[in-house]
Amino acid sequence: MPHVAYGGDYNPDQWPESVWEEDIRLMQEAGVNLVSLGIFAWSRLEPEAARYEFDWLDRIMDMLHQGGVRVDLATATASPPPWLSHKHPEMLPVTADGVRLWHGARQHYCPSSPVYRFAAQHLVERLAKRYAQHPALAMWHVGNEFGCHVPACYCDVSAEAFRAWLEERYGDIESLNRAWGADFWSQRYSEWGEILPPRRTPTWPNPSQQLDFMRFSSDALLECYDLEHAILKEHSPGIPVTTNFMRFFKPLDYWKWAEREDVVSDDVYQDPADPDAGMRSAMAGDLMRSLGRGRPWILMEQTSNRVNWREVNVPKAPGQMRLWSYQAVARGADGVMFFQWRQSRAGAEKFHSAMVPHGRPEHSPTWREVVKLGRELSRLDTVCGTRVSAEVAILHDWESWWALELPSKPSIRVHHVDQLESYYRHLFEANLTADFARPTDDLSAYRLVLAPSVYMVSDEGAANLAAFVEGGGTLVMSFFSGIVDEFEHIRLGGYPQPFRKMLGLEVVDWMPLADGETVKLKFADGIQSQGDLWSEVITLSGAEPLAFFAGSTLDGQPAVTSHSFGQGRAVYIGTRPDPAAMGRILRAVWTEAAIKPVLEAPAGVSAVRRSGPRNSLLFLLNHRDAHVEVPVADPGVNLVDGSEVHRGLLRLGPRGVAVIREGW
Ligand code: GAL
Repeated sequence: MPHVAYGGDYNPDQWPESVWEEDIRLMQEAGVNLVSLGIFAWSRLEPEAARYEFDWLDRIMDMLHQGGVRVDLATATASPPPWLSHKHPEMLPVTADGVRLWHGARQHYCPSSPVYRFAAQHLVERLAKRYAQHPALAMWHVGNEFGCHVPACYCDVSAEAFRAWLEERYGDIESLNRAWGADFWSQRYSEWGEILPPRRTPTWPNPSQQLDFMRFSSDALLECYDLEHAILKEHSPGIPVTTNFMRFFKPLDYWKWAEREDVVSDDVYQDPADPDAGMRSAMAGDLMRSLGRGRPWILMEQTSNRVNWREVNVPKAPGQMRLWSYQAVARGADGVMFFQWRQSRAGAEKFHSAMVPHGRPEHSPTWREVVKLGRELSRLDTVCGTRVSAEVAILHDWESWWALELPSKPSIRVHHVDQLESYYRHLFEANLTADFARPTDDLSAYRLVLAPSVYMVSDEGAANLAAFVEGGGTLVMSFFSGIVDEFEHIRLGGYPQPFRKMLGLEVVDWMPLADGETVKLKFADGIQSQGDLWSEVITLSGAEPLAFFAGSTLDGQPAVTSHSFGQGRAVYIGTRPDPAAMGRILRAVWTEAAIKPVLEAPAGVSAVRRSGPRNSLLFLLNHRDAHVEVPVADPGVNLVDGSEVHRGLLRLGPRGVAVIREGW
């Protein structure tokens, strides 16, 4: 699209047709140019097996087209109609406890079910044939938030599919026994038929089995996506295909998924009561851009104001929706969309805000903000297609995340996303843009790579990180990295075995800290701070200490180290330093690596740059509830309101934004 996409999920099937004209009129008023149509309309599109009703969809597609609104047409397969599961209860998903999940909500399907897949493919085939040439069609929206409610199924059908997946992976049963360490607790399998998904067991199921089941479950859903994707590509090869992601959603390996999408899209529901909400959604934005390998992505869903699914659904403050929308654009989104266009009258989400509220829109501040934002975004065509560049990469690998958070560890308090945030927060505050990457990715574009507890690493990933440092890069790594291989087997030979040489040290033992327990840290320059969560016994073999543990049994032993390796440097952190100490460590590292922020801005102001061959666009976002003055080095035009920006101080109101086209 040549314009920033603006709109939301549109469910006209929930409303009498008499409302549709008003919908189009209001969409025009709000500058809506794209809607995700019919996401949950399966039971209206196919009211009984193989009887299709497309007339209503034809009518609304035509109306939208005439109204100048393009369509991200849903394949409608996220909520199968009751007739299907009534006829075929074997397609319903089953939990690890053996509980079958029935129809009456949504997403009640086993991803491996041939019945579900067959029915979904038939519907998609019909939709694709009918609408491939429709002038309103801009994009396909496959399913909805795959795995959101049912990330894995443990039924007999899934068990069979899991076995087939394992057979493909391991070839023979002996290799599987080896990979699963099956001699432990007498778990040797003598034939494939004995293998089950990790259903409820007396105590921990085999961790390698659990890890493979997570891989399988992500793949099983991905197969559902692939089946639909193939049909859509056959009938409309030129139309982009997406499915909406959910930020750092643990069950799905989005690296794999994103490879199969033309456009990455994401749903972001910040909690306005969370003081870190801005940082967290920035992090999600950076992830989406990275998943798409830098390509623009779409903020597919957000709420205009309140959600309905927290215990207490705090509203967004005035200007907050607008600010967070711009934040997505700053971090690479070319579209800002909502769940949903018109607030439902019935059903489980009737108290969830929408672009059009229950009451009269003209009385609603939310609607006014929606209209204002739509008008502003219509001035940002020049943003479309521009890119964000980063000199820093943070390692984020789904498989390592899964493995790290399996039970039965030195401490189960070490959480992957917390670890990511403990790094990301400092970059966010200092306006250093970061991408996310896997250990196996090409890292040559980065000067600094951050590795927060990369617990599981392949040989290839470990070699890639070492090569990055050897070649002159700087790497910062946290404790409990490089501990297991991809089968969840310990890498023997002294922790962290694959990184010992690069880090110039060995970890002799772990000493996790109890809840609330802290350990003192003393930096080489005398400054004192503390860490929590973790400590460990480190012996040096080439690295120099930057900070020591103090006052505990580890008194005087290294806690943070630095090692020159090849042309580069590897810093290691053997605890979770408090934010001030972490900030110091990271600042020292990025200063030495000559990485500069986008802008030295006052606290609470984000600065991100998007650029293209002809444009450099500086986004300034004031996350604070007060006026701020931001030093601007280059003059330009603020595209949000057309005003000229001069070199000097630019004043931004509470939650104010500016998008400065730099240069005149
Ligand atoms: C999303 C979902 C939407 C709607 C929304 C409510 O997870 O895709 O259909 O349920 O949440 O916040």
